[in-house]
Amino acid sequence: MNQHINKEHLNNPVTRDAINSFSNATDPRLAEVMALLVKHLHAFVSESNLSKAEWLKGLEFLTAAAQITDHERNEFSLFSDIMGISSMVDVVSQPPGGTPSSVLGPFHNHDSQIQPNGCDLTHGQPGERVWLHGRVLDVHQKPIPNAQIDFWQNADNGLYPAQDAAQDPQNLRCKIHCDAQGGFNLLTIRPHPYTVPTDGPVGALLAASNRGIWRPAHFHIIVSAPGYVGLVTELFPSGSAYIDNDTVFGVRPGLIVDVKDCHNQEVAKQFGLTQPFKEVAFDFSLVPQSSTT
Ligand SMILES: [Fe+2]
Repeated sequence: MNQHINKEHLNNPVTRDAINSFSNATDPRLAEVMALLVKHLHAFVSESNLSKAEWLKGLEFLTAAAQITDHERNEFSLFSDIMGISSMVDVVSQPPGGTPSSVLGPFHNHDSQIQPNGCDLTHGQPGERVWLHGRVLDVHQKPIPNAQIDFWQNADNGLYPAQDAAQDPQNLRCKIHCDAQGGFNLLTIRPHPYTVPTDGPVGALLAASNRGIWRPAHFHIIVSAPGYVGLVTELFPSGSAYIDNDTVFGVRPGLIVDVKDCHNQEVAKQFGLTQPFKEVAFDFSLVPQSSTT
């Protein structure tokens, strides 16, 4: 019997036997996780006094989620997001001391091209120009040279390339390597709020629950460096609509950034900017892998 199982939940023989049924799993972690899952799901059924009709409705929901899921669309992932499970996994797996993590979301592309540090991602498209810059540091504020920034965001119409055939698949995304002082910078545009997909069972659940379907504007960033725990996170411009009501619960106070007027003439010259532009400055902090083992 797993030591984490509270004995008060073992009074029901169905619960006890279902928990024990996983005790012979070859992988002890599988035995532990499944026993806890059974424990909490049985507690949910008991505490909610779940009716057979409600149980069947739940099965129909999962069936509908499976039917709409394919290699480009995962309704179960979205369900995890809107239940706050994805964010809870972020929270419990976050090593202490570094920049908070946030959800990966469905639009990350492993094939983003490596661009020079200081690249211009705007390529003449509409949108308010934003100079995004900062440093990658360790938990003692020491720069991490050559850390990699993997960056992506949506366009001025609120869509990612995967949602918009008019966009180049590489639009507003890149990988760059920081300089010897951990510094990075790029020119992009202000991101926009967008809705999660609502044409599946999760959308129906959100509607039935009178819940919002919007995410606040955000930049997606993955920061990685050898010897450090990789960071999957987002930066949220302050004042964005829905920043207090993110339907996937991804906003953390430490990830809200100010979008300020920028008057740096060197930067204007670097990117050939003649119109007013904004800046976002943010330093990332990575936790060494040795501190998590
Ligand atoms: Fe996103």
